[in-house]
Amino acid sequence: MRIAIIGSGYVGLVSGACFADFGHDVECVDLDERKIEALRKGEIPIYEPGLDELVEHNAREKRLSFTTELAGAVKKADVVFIAVGTPSRRGDGHADLSYVIAATRSIAEAMDGYTVVVTKSTVPVGTGDEVERVIAEVRPDAQFSVVSNPEFLREGAAIDDFKRPDRIVVGIEDERARDVMREVYRPLYLNQAPILFTERRTAELTKYAANAFLAMKITFINEIADLCEAVGANVQDVARGIGLDNRIGSKFLNAGPGYGGSCFPKDTLALVKTAQDHNSPMRLIETTVAINDNRKRAMARKVIAACGGDVRGKTIALLGLTFKPNTDDMRDAPAIAIVQGLQDNGAAVRAYDPEGMEAAGRILENVTFVSDAYEAVDNADAVVIVTEWNAFRALDLTRIRNAMRSPVLVDLRNIYRHDEVVRHGFRYASIGRPHGGPESNS
Ligand SMILES: NC(=O)c1ccc[n+]([C@@H]2O[C@H](COP(=O)([O-])OP(=O)(O)OC[C@H]3O[C@@H](n4cnc5c(N)ncnc54)[C@H](O)[C@@H]3O)[C@@H](O)[C@H]2O)c1
Repeated sequence: MRIAIIGSGYVGLVSGACFADFGHDVECVDLDERKIEALRKGEIPIYEPGLDELVEHNAREKRLSFTTELAGAVKKADVVFIAVGTPSRRGDGHADLSYVIAATRSIAEAMDGYTVVVTKSTVPVGTGDEVERVIAEVRPDAQFSVVSNPEFLREGAAIDDFKRPDRIVVGIEDERARDVMREVYRPLYLNQAPILFTERRTAELTKYAANAFLAMKITFINEIADLCEAVGANVQDVARGIGLDNRIGSKFLNAGPGYGGSCFPKDTLALVKTAQDHNSPMRLIETTVAINDNRKRAMARKVIAACGGDVRGKTIALLGLTFKPNTDDMRDAPAIAIVQGLQDNGAAVRAYDPEGMEAAGRILENVTFVSDAYEAVDNADAVVIVTEWNAFRALDLTRIRNAMRSPVLVDLRNIYRHDEVVRHGFRYASIGRPHGGPESNS
């Protein structure tokens, strides 16, 4: 199959590289000339484990190429994937579809022969209908199908998720497109990955339902964590106790500083707006959004409380800034609200993140970025673990204790054991574990 991918960001680039690895002939398109220039030189503009080798290998085999010329790539393609951004629209929180529609127009102008146009971007219900309408308007002569194929990959584990997905959801309105999509995913199909063919609107909604459910699950355990702190229970044991129930499942039950990232915040908000527009409000998700927004800011208050109620003139060291480990993505990361809250209360912030400092530097102001965890804690009044990078799981606590002005450790990811940290002379605060607990079972 000849495939064009429009938008070479996290999703476009990973999808393109994986499709090429399946043996398809893939051209990745982006408007960003610097990005394409870098990719042509084998430089990967994002941090995603394993992506550099995959891109290098498939580019060398001449199955994967990069261009800013959308028309040329689309003309040759049997299938065109739209993988451009769909951020929250300023002001109302609806998904901003301007990039999708602009890409659709350009695709329509360039299409040559029967083409399957697939939205891989996360788009609200009905966007496929709009894409179809725009193409028919621009090119009344065109032969095409519009398909929804939402992407479920997780940053940090994107290649594995793409190649070994729990399921592939494909929303189609005609049989011709079904055959093409089956061919696109043939290697996975042969590997028995479940492919779920649905109507197009169903596929679009499935993506939002999945993200909203996961966001709700995280938010649920975060509220249980708060209650644990109030009543003297241990959230990790509660999570294990409920997670072992197969109906609940143990994933996404790690209490923490609130969800962030490029998907959950904007997708929950967009679902809320869609539901309101259709007079079918989703109160659970409205509440999830509100709780999560408050929580990020509350984490700054938690740090302030751990510092004795006042951080004015103090230096706080943050370890980890990205919304989760193994990515450089800072979009809607809890660290942003935490930094803001600490600075608003007069603290100076020093921070280290293994991969996210460049992206963080574009968002965070007046933060001193340093080159490792030990430099961050030097003379600090408190250290806060914001993101659970592996590099922070086995810190030399004695060295840290000795370097700090006052030994306060706030662990927003519960990666340390209470007894161990206290034994090293720290005052320790974590999430939903007021007394640390026996720590023996988990
Ligand atoms: N990041 C994730 O983990 C993830 C997971 C699943 C789904 N998604 C969804 O996938 C979509 C893309 O997300 P992302 O994180 O890859 O975004 P991104 O911002 O990393 O990449 C989007 C790219 O599209 C390019 N672009 C925009 N308009 C274009 C056009 N007309 N022609 C060519 N290129 C154009 C931009 O320059 C950018 O490089 C979003 O809808 C997102 O919700 C993301």
